Amino acid sequence: MRLFTRSQSLWEKAQALVPGGMPAHLSPNLLVRGQSPCFIERAEGCRFRDVDGNEYIDYLCAYGPMILGYNHPGVEAAVAEQKEKGDCFSLPSPLWVALAERMVNLISAADWVTFGKNGSDVCNLAVRVARAHTGRKKIVMAQGSYHGIGAWCTPVREGIIEEERSQVLTFPYNDADALEALLKQHGPETAAVIVTPFKHETTRDQEMPAPAFIDRLNALTRPEGPVLIIDDVRGGFRLDMRGSAEYIGLKPHLSCFSKAMGNGYPISALCGQQELKEAASRVFFTGSFFAGAESMAAALATIDHMVNHNSLQHIFRMGEMLKQGMLEQAASLGLKIRYTGPVTMPFMTFEDDPKFQKSRTFCARAYQEGVFFHPYHNWFLSAAHEEGDIRETLEATFKAFKAVKEMT
Ligand SMILES: Cc1ncc(COP(=O)(O)O)c(C=O)c1O
Repeated sequence: MRLFTRSQSLWEKAQALVPGGMPAHLSPNLLVRGQSPCFIERAEGCRFRDVDGNEYIDYLCAYGPMILGYNHPGVEAAVAEQKEKGDCFSLPSPLWVALAERMVNLISAADWVTFGKNGSDVCNLAVRVARAHTGRKKIVMAQGSYHGIGAWCTPVREGIIEEERSQVLTFPYNDADALEALLKQHGPETAAVIVTPFKHETTRDQEMPAPAFIDRLNALTRPEGPVLIIDDVRGGFRLDMRGSAEYIGLKPHLSCFSKAMGNGYPISALCGQQELKEAASRVFFTGSFFAGAESMAAALATIDHMVNHNSLQHIFRMGEMLKQGMLEQAASLGLKIRYTGPVTMPFMTFEDDPKFQKSRTFCARAYQEGVFFHPYHNWFLSAAHEEGDIRETLEATFKAFKAVKEMT
């Protein structure tokens, strides 16, 4: 039986030293309390070892960033080469231009790009650019969508004043009529509509966008406003290397990327269409580390590797293998599951499990068997997952499904 003794004692210490122990998604409170690891010692490829020495095949990929796998040789070599020269300078490195050129050539809806560090940086910037460009205040977003920790959108209202939210309107994702009704009423005051490429909010089954919803988003937005922003921070590079907008047929004016862009190195990008470039140059957007050259080297190496090796096709293949295997196992045991979203970043829930007890049982057993899933958050696959890893995973999931079966 795997124990989490060191994890638990570190977690107790963390709570004494840090408010909440660990904020938000990396908090072990969001896993299976007492039955999951809390801290990771090291990681390689698609696997990590926790501080108690337990190993896992990882289906969280650091919540998305690790698209080529941990400690990827190509990315690490590019970073090491840059490290020799330096990272944080008094002027940008030439990689600022090299990466800008690479992104503008790669991303379909990009005439220009600028860089930050986190997804929140560029989602906040996108909203400001839209407001600066249109001179309008309102932002329309889907209910429950996560766009980071900006005051205008953070899901937790503590410390946020009402005025910061009063210009944000919401509609149910995929509901084209509700969106149209909202814009009929507020269109002339609306700076932007912001959407994720598919519905991937925590604790919910994922939903791909309906073609009619995409058509209406394209038809109801325009460069003069309301402009269309795609928040591709989570989905970016796991649907299409040219941006998820290409995959779903969306025509955004602004596109936000981060997570998978630098295979774990901190970097984000806002890409935009020509019409919004002037406004983007007026918005004040900076940070001491925004031009960090190591992250830029990592992003260039990650993108080049993904494109040159067709890594995304491999991830889709592995994702399909995992999905089929799990669907067959659940059916063979008479368990009703919903396996939703793209196979490269799926999520699974059980029917008749409103409190996620079955999901927690499934995950706790999977941890014992050396596989790391999340009970409430979508999962991620990487190019480091190989057929052997999926087969090993499926041996674990069969036992985890059986543990759920025994509950009922
Ligand atoms: C869709 C989406 N947008 C924005 C963000 C914020 O990104 P970050 O945590 O890097 O600030 C996230 C993070 O999970 C996200 O999933």
